[in-house]
Amino acid sequence: MSKMTEMESLMRKSGYSEKAMNYYIQKVNVGEISEPSVSFAYTGPCGDTMEIFLEIGSDNVIRDAKFQAIGCAGAFASGSALTEMIKGKTLVQAKKIDEDNIMNHLGHIPAQKIHCVCLARRTLEKAIERYKTKIKDSTEIK
Ligand code: FES
Repeated sequence: MSKMTEMESLMRKSGYSEKAMNYYIQKVNVGEISEPSVSFAYTGPCGDTMEIFLEIGSDNVIRDAKFQAIGCAGAFASGSALTEMIKGKTLVQAKKIDEDNIMNHLGHIPAQKIHCVCLARRTLEKAIERYKTKIKDSTEIK
């Protein structure tokens, strides 16, 4: 059995859906945006860290989204799902995406991995907050 097949089999047994497995294995949206509108790195209570990079248009629509993580398969599947879900959405729409929406998009991941979904959502929330602060600061009359 190849290493990839062994990993797939283990992930399937652990409760990952095919979609979640594919996100993890294909590393969907894993990477950086060289000159992002904003980026933010956040460490969750489990000690894992995710950094989200966003390219945002002047209409507040998210044109591109990527992420890096030091974390588990759940973190990578959640990061891929969330970055896929927010492309083409406004900041307001993106901020409304919650853990249940991400879980539904993924299909299924092990129940113990809900905090990995939280890590992705919280990192996005903080990146959006930082972007709003950055925009506000740059438009203030000095
Ligand atoms: Fe920390 Fe999954 S165990 S993000």
